[in-house]
Amino acid sequence: MSVHEVHVSSPAKVNLALRVGPPRFDGFHPLDTVFESLDVYDDVVATRADSISLTMSGVGEDLPTDASNLAVRAAQLLQERHGVDDGVRLDITKRIPVAAGMAGGSADAAATLVACSRLWGLDLPLAELLELGGELGSDVPFALLGGLAHGVGRGEALESMESGIDHNWVLLTDASGLSTPEVFREFDSIMGYTRVPEALVPETLELRKALECGDRCAAQEHMINDLEEPAFSLRPELRETMRTLRARGHVALLSGSGPTIAVLAESADRADALARELAALFPRHGVLRANGPAGSTHVTKEM
Ligand code: C5P
Repeated sequence: MSVHEVHVSSPAKVNLALRVGPPRFDGFHPLDTVFESLDVYDDVVATRADSISLTMSGVGEDLPTDASNLAVRAAQLLQERHGVDDGVRLDITKRIPVAAGMAGGSADAAATLVACSRLWGLDLPLAELLELGGELGSDVPFALLGGLAHGVGRGEALESMESGIDHNWVLLTDASGLSTPEVFREFDSIMGYTRVPEALVPETLELRKALECGDRCAAQEHMINDLEEPAFSLRPELRETMRTLRARGHVALLSGSGPTIAVLAESADRADALARELAALFPRHGVLRANGPAGSTHVTKEM
């Protein structure tokens, strides 16, 4: 029986460590990173149609719906590679903040790959979806995989990890986003380079060990994001927020290329209380609760 509608959910992410090296010949930066998926999901409903179209609702209702949207590009890429004549109507409900360093655009692309693969009867294996995802963007493969993973290369070369720790996060979001390429450019202009990524750097190695054996304190000590300085340089208010959080004893780190700041709580109950506290303390920021590691990109319904 052929499928005519597929519903897929795809998770946001935070980088527990993000080490960045000097740009490669192709302009991308080698990364050594540990990704954790969060239980904040974007939903994509894919319906059979003659051509590709897209609607966006929720926090992404102002985003473009043409081929500059990564979800449309994901559907086009799948059509081209597999000679598909069918189209698709994509209806995306966004909950992942936009241009926030949480890979929301990548989540939409990942969800579209999974939905169209099913809708068009391709049923591609995960390995091929990961390959196509890597062509679309550095964070798309992780959105497909979810959970906890160590990433190198541009961030697209992944190894799944077992997690012995659940994290309860309070996310401080920002009304205006930061552009990832701009943050990397700022990194190039202000940072002295540490020699990194061809092999594991000590922080990610130590972080991996701590996460896998459930050592919460050791894991916190090795959380680090090399994009913090460039993001703070572009958005000085973020440095103030981070300073206040750390002075109050919180474990806090920038999520990806920012501007979202992820604050760790000791338990789910504590995180709910902390979310209320931080909303009062930082009226300039939005506040979102999230837990990780969460799931992968997955089909929730089909008919
Ligand atoms: O791969 P993605 O499309 O998400 O990357 C967006 C931009 O971020 C790239 O065009 C590049 O400027 C920068 N980037 C980078 N190094 C990476 C990942 C992204 O310089 N590893």
